[in-house]
Amino acid sequence: MNMILKATGVALLSILPYVQAYPVSGFKHSQRTPFFVLAGDSTTATQTSTQTSNGGGWGDGFLNTTLFKGATGRNFGHNGATTVSFRDGGDWDEVLTTVRQVRDDYHPFVTIQFGHNDQKPAANISLSQYTRNLERMVSEASDAGATPILVTPLSRRNYDDSTGTPSIIMSLANETMATIAAAHHSSAAYIDLNEASTRYLNAIGPANAFTYNLNPSDNTHLNVPGSVLFGGIVAELISQKFHDLEKSGYLRVNHKLKKNVDHGIYYWPQLL
Ligand SMILES: *[C@@H]1O[C@H](CO)[C@@H](O)[C@H](O)[C@H]1NC(C)=O
Ligand SMILES: *[C@@H]1O[C@H](CO)[C@@H](O)[C@H](O)[C@H]1NC(C)=O
Ligand SMILES: *[C@@H]1O[C@H](CO)[C@@H](O)[C@H](O)[C@H]1NC(C)=O
Repeated sequence: MNMILKATGVALLSILPYVQAYPVSGFKHSQRTPFFVLAGDSTTATQTSTQTSNGGGWGDGFLNTTLFKGATGRNFGHNGATTVSFRDGGDWDEVLTTVRQVRDDYHPFVTIQFGHNDQKPAANISLSQYTRNLERMVSEASDAGATPILVTPLSRRNYDDSTGTPSIIMSLANETMATIAAAHHSSAAYIDLNEASTRYLNAIGPANAFTYNLNPSDNTHLNVPGSVLFGGIVAELISQKFHDLEKSGYLRVNHKLKKNVDHGIYYWPQLL
């Protein structure tokens, strides 16, 4: 009985992404090629030089290494951005403009990841305001014709060593919960990158984790191999929510990367 229940549970879980009612999310085999528009802060953004250390996220690794068969995208990650500054500074308009430009030829997706700067006291953005700002982005991305995907913030690589076993300091826990709440309120898809990155960083430990730093003292931003690694994790999380992206061959995660991440084993991507 127990086994049957468990088996049924697994079967139900695996069909959930299909039955869940996302606004424009259905992505079926016959549909247009996906185009990923990435909205976020420096932890999504393109790598800057290691000297300036103000941008380096998972975005370019994702776009460069996980998209196939004509699937493509653009990285609008902006260093220092909050959910407020991204809109006020014109970045969000560029995201929506891009969606409108590509929507006849592609199926646009918009990933939305903030929190690292929204949480800073100087930003003066409350958690409820952050949640509302994300919900507004979801609704505007949908209205423009895209499938929005909320992304919980990439973990920082700061460890608490006090117990003898280093473990990641959960400095973005509130923003993670708020992002998931925004997804529930707006019926948007979300991926829990904070959980997946924290789990992997706990498994590999600090010495390995710091090899992904943009420069030795920067535990937030990613170098190119780090971008490829965490970009692969993002792609894997997206393919779990949108199975057809993987089935149709548009989204593909390097087999070795996926296997090592699944097993919590340190992985250094071989760059072409
Ligand atoms: C992405 O590709 C560009 C162009 O080839 C390259 O300069 C950059 O280093 C790559 N970045 C990542 C994170 O893969
Ligand atoms: C912070 O935001 C609140 C609510 O928007 C506002 O009333 C307050 O003046 C702001 N504080 C500062 C220091 O800007
Ligand atoms: C989360 O929010 C609570 C309540 O505002 C606060 O006490 C706590 O310090 C926050 N946690 C983190 C990790 O910022």
